[in-house]
Amino acid sequence: MSDTKAHVPVLLAETLAALNINADGCYIDGTFGRGGHSARLLDALSPQGRLIVFDKDTAAIEEAKQYFSGDQRLQLRHDSFANMARLGTEQDLFGKVDGVMLDLGVSSPQLDEAERGFSFSRNGPLDMRMNTAGGETAAEWLAHVEKVELVRVLRDFGEEKLAKMIAAKIIQYRTDNVLETTQQLAEIVRSCYSPQYKGVHPATRTFQAIRIHINQELDDLVQGLNDAFELLAIGGRLVVISFHSLEDRIVKRFIRDTQVSHTPKHLPVIEQTTPYLKSVSKLVRPSDAECEENPRARSGRLRIAEKVMP
Ligand SMILES: C[S@@+](CC[C@H](N)C(=O)[O-])C[C@H]1O[C@@H](n2cnc3c(N)ncnc32)[C@H](O)[C@@H]1O
Repeated sequence: MSDTKAHVPVLLAETLAALNINADGCYIDGTFGRGGHSARLLDALSPQGRLIVFDKDTAAIEEAKQYFSGDQRLQLRHDSFANMARLGTEQDLFGKVDGVMLDLGVSSPQLDEAERGFSFSRNGPLDMRMNTAGGETAAEWLAHVEKVELVRVLRDFGEEKLAKMIAAKIIQYRTDNVLETTQQLAEIVRSCYSPQYKGVHPATRTFQAIRIHINQELDDLVQGLNDAFELLAIGGRLVVISFHSLEDRIVKRFIRDTQVSHTPKHLPVIEQTTPYLKSVSKLVRPSDAECEENPRARSGRLRIAEKVMP
């Protein structure tokens, strides 16, 4: 792929090792991006191996078509990984997949291209949709959202302490202005913070929160994890890279809860009768060297689990 530089894959070697690749196996990359992980996964597969990739983003899938066309082992799906169960039904894959990986969040091209509207440091239209083929843009949503809902989103998805003040300013601003650019939004948020404020850019949490809401990222994650679990074969690996604590908490609890929910209450854990996820290692963080080379890796956290039978 000539465009791999557009997005530097995070925790690449660790992810590949975590997948414990069987060369003839069937794998799913739920977040193709620019194919950094997928390309290396394909390298490790034999002609009998299969890789099915998802991405919500039309541009990501277009790139995949361009660079991987002709590789019979690869199947592309312009879809959310939250629809993995549909794949299972269509292709009879329940209990047959050797590994599912998710590298959550946004890709560097999404952040770097101003017109995508994800970045507060690049002025562009307030879009923030991963899938530009449909759905409401951030500008459209901000034009009608009720204050109470906006506060909830900023708090729940951004952990923003000034959620009430920022929501009030946005609502006030839109009564006399059209809120349509990333710069306008970043400026509104900045005006809520004291000039003495020191920390990440004040708009970081607001942009994260709105992006998560617009793309239903946490709902998709919960559904995707459930589907991945059903698709995995016994011995199959679930490998997830997350970039903030909200995602990581969901992944951590999901892995823990499969064990609890699949254990009949009247039986001790050792008499569990249905498959569950067993955590394979502690949380893996990028090395200092990786963070130095790729600052976007800094917040990456990798969790690895294996589907096991008691
Ligand atoms: C961090 S990037 C993945 C980068 C990729 N691993 C690489 O090395 O090039 C995340 C990608 O996942 C996609 N994405 C996020 N949530 C998704 C979802 N629910 N379903 C499908 N794709 C999703 C985004 O559009 C983005 O392209």
